[in-house]
Amino acid sequence: MNAAHRNIYKNALNISHLLARCRVKTGDRVIDATCGQGHDTVFLAELVGEEGRVWAFDIQAEAVVSTRALIEQRGLAARVEVVHEDHRFMDRYVGEPVSLVMFNLGYLPGGDHRISTAPRTSIDALEKAIGLLGEAGSITLVCYTGHPGGREELQALKEYLAGIPQNYLEVIEISFLNQLNNPAVLLLLNKLNGGIR
Ligand SMILES: C[S@@+](CC[C@H](N)C(=O)[O-])C[C@H]1O[C@@H](n2cnc3c(N)ncnc32)[C@H](O)[C@@H]1O
Repeated sequence: MNAAHRNIYKNALNISHLLARCRVKTGDRVIDATCGQGHDTVFLAELVGEEGRVWAFDIQAEAVVSTRALIEQRGLAARVEVVHEDHRFMDRYVGEPVSLVMFNLGYLPGGDHRISTAPRTSIDALEKAIGLLGEAGSITLVCYTGHPGGREELQALKEYLAGIPQNYLEVIEISFLNQLNNPAVLLLLNKLNGGIR
């Protein structure tokens, strides 16, 4: 198949990775706010390289164990701190500016679907993430809409983000308008003007 005809964007998660590749440099500090099985943590750890650092958070012990096992297996443990903690408290662990914070909302695949991100805690965590962004830092939020509460969470995040001054943060929504089965939506934030509010 000709490259021009390939589906290059695929889904919100894939676009979040494409954008992360544009924003993150070797040696950067970044956060995975919802590490789950550790796939995004591994992706970020490879992007920042040996000199970089990744903080990975999850509220579930099961996710922390999976993520630690995966990063050990890939030889990336020295550059990753996996924290068993609610992402609302990420500022207690990260003491320096970061260039990217990645949120992949919803529940742990294969885990207890009742333990899911929620509007209030996601907004609190997002506020913390914005506070930790360095100059020209970015945040990606992959928002799933097919599970109970997913659409409400996306709506609450959008309402919160719509109130942020446009000279402080650029806020973008990317949706797949013609995909079936409740495609995930990507919210993207970029800090502007050196982040002065
Ligand atoms: C869709 S999964 C993340 C997938 C993951 N990024 C990966 O690559 O496998 C969402 C994760 O968010 C976690 N989570 C839910 N509420 C949270 C909270 N308040 N703080 C931190 N993690 C939370 C869940 O436990 C779940 O593992």
